[in-house]
Order: sequence, then structure tokens, then C-alpha cells
Amino acid sequence: MRGAVNTLTSRPKPVGDPEAGARKVEWARAHMPILEEARRRFEAEKPFRDRRLSLVLHVEAKTAALALALQAGGGDVRMAASNPLTTDDDVVAHLLGSGLETYAVKGESIAAYREGLEAMFAADPHLIIDDGADLVALFLQKEERGDGPTHRLLGSTEETTTGVVRLRAMERQGKLRWPVIDVNDAVMKHLFDNRYGTGQSTLDGIFTATNLVVAGRTAVVAGYGWCGKGVASRLRGMGANVIVTEIDAAKAVEARLEGFRVMRMLDAVREADFVVTVTGCRDVVRAEHFKVMKDGCCLANSGHFDVEINLEDLKGLSVDRRKARAMVDEYRMADGRRIYVLAEGRLVNLSAGQGHPVEIMDMSFALQALSAEHLVKEGERLPPKVYPVPPSLDEAVARAALRAYGAELDELTEVQKKYLESWEVGT
Ligand code: ADE
Repeated sequence: MRGAVNTLTSRPKPVGDPEAGARKVEWARAHMPILEEARRRFEAEKPFRDRRLSLVLHVEAKTAALALALQAGGGDVRMAASNPLTTDDDVVAHLLGSGLETYAVKGESIAAYREGLEAMFAADPHLIIDDGADLVALFLQKEERGDGPTHRLLGSTEETTTGVVRLRAMERQGKLRWPVIDVNDAVMKHLFDNRYGTGQSTLDGIFTATNLVVAGRTAVVAGYGWCGKGVASRLRGMGANVIVTEIDAAKAVEARLEGFRVMRMLDAVREADFVVTVTGCRDVVRAEHFKVMKDGCCLANSGHFDVEINLEDLKGLSVDRRKARAMVDEYRMADGRRIYVLAEGRLVNLSAGQGHPVEIMDMSFALQALSAEHLVKEGERLPPKVYPVPPSLDEAVARAALRAYGAELDELTEVQKKYLESWEVGT
């Protein structure tokens, strides 16, 4: 080990209830049959024996199920928070009791968050599982200062769109030092986690934070990627009038043909009761928007980083700020308008809600577990690049999901197979 973890200074004391945490993890595991199938095989085969794994994830019941599955596979596993506000303290208490070093306390300071990342580095891991690419970025920055890891890692995996965007930038700039598997773009991940997972959990977060109705109200969704599609569709399903804002023409057309109004943010905020940002970019809602925003508008972010709503602008323009509810800050403008910011502009679905539904994360985290196993076997001989999840793993997770649902597939007949191979002009 490179550094002793007990030298960390900013870390608040763990505060959770380990028994409550155990029940939460037990519930998650009972609804994660695909990950459990992998776990049973890992227990028998111990693919992670003698391997140190550093995980930077939202520390809650589903990520705990993943961490414990890797530990059951012989791994020396530790985990830190990928966001200061998304931790479930009960789960942390349970993990600590299960011998899994965990660096996360809900609401921790940025200094404590960074120390968690440092601890993940200090463990000198063979493998990284990252959500947002902060840990990989830390490794590369240290390497540039001549203070990098002592050995070449077998690889890392990345969970989310924002992380993949950063990793691709590192790849383009020739900075990557090991193979990275882009779990985010696996079919069995983005089609379900990004769309239906974000759709449901974002509404969960908004409802928990506000206890307000969305039916009959106007909701603006900024960004019509997979996450935006999910949020827009679920808001519409709950009876909201949904407006989409976009910077990409084709996505804007797609949103329009899906039946949504497409507008510029500057126009949309004049009628918005809710604005949800899911773009992966910064300053999506900023001073010019706050100046004309409707009184009582609720702002929520479901993008990975808390940069989508420019709170500095809002602080500068407002004359007063107070806590309206546990997860809602009320900003009062000079003309009396009130603007509500949910979960400090951090991921509302995990900060105020419970994150994506368990069954959805079962697929994502089974892909993570299988991708980590793939890197243990193949990582040494893979050049440093961003790789897709091997299609055989995507297929394995799809088939396991079908088994779990009790659904069966049709199979092509021999005549159908031949037809699909033929190309001659018919008679
Ligand atoms: N729960 C755990 N990790 C998550 C993620 N990346 N997104 C949503 N919910 C989660």
C-alpha cells in the first residue's frame, strides 16, 4: 500500500445504522438476479484473487451489491463516493462491517470527497471502477506530476456518459495509460439505465424533494440524449406538458416528432414550473434565464456534475436565500419572484431520490462485474484505449435478464436463416 488510509483528516465519522444498511443491501440483492448469478460464479472461481480494486461510485445499496460481489470473487475491494451528496450512510456502515473499506458520508465536504479519491489511489489498485472518471483523472494528473501509480493498471471501467466524454478526451490527447471499458454505451446499459433508470429516478428525486404535482404543469427538459428521453417520457406519463431544449438539430427533430414542444431555454423558462437539466454540459440555466424565469419555478439537475445550473449567477442575482425544505433552497429575486433549487443542483435522482430502480442497475452492474473480470483476463495485453463492452457480455446480460423475467425468445427456422443470407433478385 502506498499510503495509510488513516492519515486522512477531513473525513467525518460514519453515522449510519449497519443493520438498516444490511436490510437495504439484502433487498437490492434479492432484486438483482443477474449480478447474483455472476456473484455465485465469482465465489466459485475467484477471478479477482490477489487483485486490488478501487471503486468510485454512488455509495448506496446497489453499488454495495456490486462491491460485495467483487469481494466474494476474491478481490481486495474498497470504495469511495463519486458525489458528496449521494451516499447512503446506512449502507456505508454495513460495508464497513463487511470488511470493505468505504470512504463516503452523505453531505461530506469537497476536501473529504477528494481524500476518498486519494485513498482509492493510495490502495495501488489493479482495477478501477469509476463513475464520472474522477479517479482516472486523478491518476493521470499524478502521473503528469511524476507521482503516478507504480505499475500499469489492468484497466478501468466507466459507468456514465460524462465519464466517457472525459475519457475520450484523454484518449484523443494520448493520455490514457491503460485500457478502459465504456460500460455506459453497452446496449444493456444505456438503453435501460440512461433512459428508464434516469426517467424514473429523476421523478423520484423531484417528488421526494418537493412533494409537488407535475400533472398539468409545464416541465422543461434540457437535453434529449438517452437520459433526457427518459425524463421527458416519464414526465409526460405523469401528465406534465413537456418542453425540450436542445443544441443538436437531429435530437431536436426527434423530440418534436415524439410530440414534445422544442424551444430555446430563454423562451421555455418563462412558462416553466419545473426545469430538469440532463445535458452533461455547464451553465445550461444561467443569469439570462434566471432574469425571466417564472415565479416558483423548481430547478433540478440529473446530469453527473453540479455545473448545469449556474448557482453563482443565481446567488448574484437573488436578494435572499433560505431552506424551504430539506432538499429545496429558495432564492428570492429583487422583484419578489422565488426560484427553487433542488438538492443544491447535484444529481437530484440520487441526492433526493434513491437512484435508479434496482432491476435496472442489476443489468448495469452485471455489465460492470463482467467487464472487470474481462480486464483481469485480458487487460495486460490490451493497448491503452477506450473499448466497448465485448458484445458477448452484452448478450449474456440480455439473456440473463430474459431468464429473470421468465420471458423466452423465438428462434430463427432454417428457412428464415437462409432467407436472411440471400440477396438475389426474387422471381
Ligand atoms: N445508483 C447507483 N449508481 C447509480 C447511477 N450511476 N445512476 C443512478 N443510480 C445509481
